[in-house]
Amino acid sequence: METKQPKLIVKDLKKIYEDKCALNSVSFDVKEGEFLSILGPSGCGKTTILRILIGLLDATSGTIIKDGVDITNAPASSRGMGIVFQNYALFENMTVLGNVEYALKIRKETKAVARERALSMIERMGLSEHINKKPGELSGGQQQRVAIARTMILNPEIILFDEPMSALDVATRISLRKEIKDIQKEFGTTMIYITHDQEEAFAMSDRLMVMKEANIEQIDTPENIIDHPANEYVQSFVIDNLQAKINSLVKYLR
Ligand SMILES: Nc1ncnc2c1ncn2[C@@H]1O[C@H](COP(=O)(O)OP(=O)(O)O)[C@@H](O)[C@H]1O
Ligand SMILES: [Mg+2]
Repeated sequence: METKQPKLIVKDLKKIYEDKCALNSVSFDVKEGEFLSILGPSGCGKTTILRILIGLLDATSGTIIKDGVDITNAPASSRGMGIVFQNYALFENMTVLGNVEYALKIRKETKAVARERALSMIERMGLSEHINKKPGELSGGQQQRVAIARTMILNPEIILFDEPMSALDVATRISLRKEIKDIQKEFGTTMIYITHDQEEAFAMSDRLMVMKEANIEQIDTPENIIDHPANEYVQSFVIDNLQAKINSLVKYLR
C-alpha cells in the first residue's frame, strides 16, 4: 500500500509574545489535498498558527516541513502558500482586474500572460461582470471572491483561510462554502480553514482541529469527534454548540 508523506508537518510549534504564551508546543500534520478546519474560541492561537505557517511571523521554536523539506525559515514568497483574510484586504483604489493581476505583475509575468490568467480566474469566480469595479462597489461576498481569485492566481499548493466568512450573511456563506470546496476539488489544493462556526467546520472538513488556550485538544474526522470527543471541553465547545445550532435551524424551518 502506498503511504504518502504528509503535505505539511508541524512539530512542537511554540510562540511566546513577550510574556504571553500563544502556542504551547503544537504538533499536527496535513495531508495533500486535505481540508483541515481549526475551531476554537477567540485568543486560543488560531491566527498565530496561520501567520507562522505562511511566514509573516517567526515561531519561538518548532519546525515546519512541507513535502519533506524544512521551510521553518524559508521566505514567505517561496512557501507555495496563499492566505485569505476575514476583511478581504483588497486594494481599494484598484479594480477587480487590477487586484487579481497584481501578484502576477510583481512576479514579473508578462502583461499579456497576467491579463489572460486574471481574466480566466475572474471568470472562474463568477466575477466577469464586475471586472472594472472597485472593491467598494461590491458586496462582501463578491469582495471575498476577488480575494480568493487573487490568491488562487499564484497556484498555491496550500491556502490558509482566517475566518473568511465571518462578515457575510448566511446565504452568501453557504454559496461561498460550496465555491471553496469546488476549487479544492478542481485544483487539489490543500486547505487550512479557521472558523468560528461549528456547523461550517463539520460541513466542509476532512478533519477538524479543536483548540483551547494555546493547545490542540483533538484533531480528527468530524465523525470521530462526534462519536469520541476527547474530553469534556470538546464535548461542550464542539458538539453542544453544533446541537444548539441545529436546534435553532430546525425552529427556523418550521
Ligand atoms: N502581537 C501580539 N502581541 C502580544 N500578544 C499577542 C499578539 N498577537 C496575538 N497575541 C495574543 O496571543 C493569543 C493568540 O492570539 P491569536 O492567534 O490571534 O488567537 P485567535 O486567532 O485564536 O483568536 C491571544 O491571547 C492574543 O491576545
Ligand atoms: Mg484569529
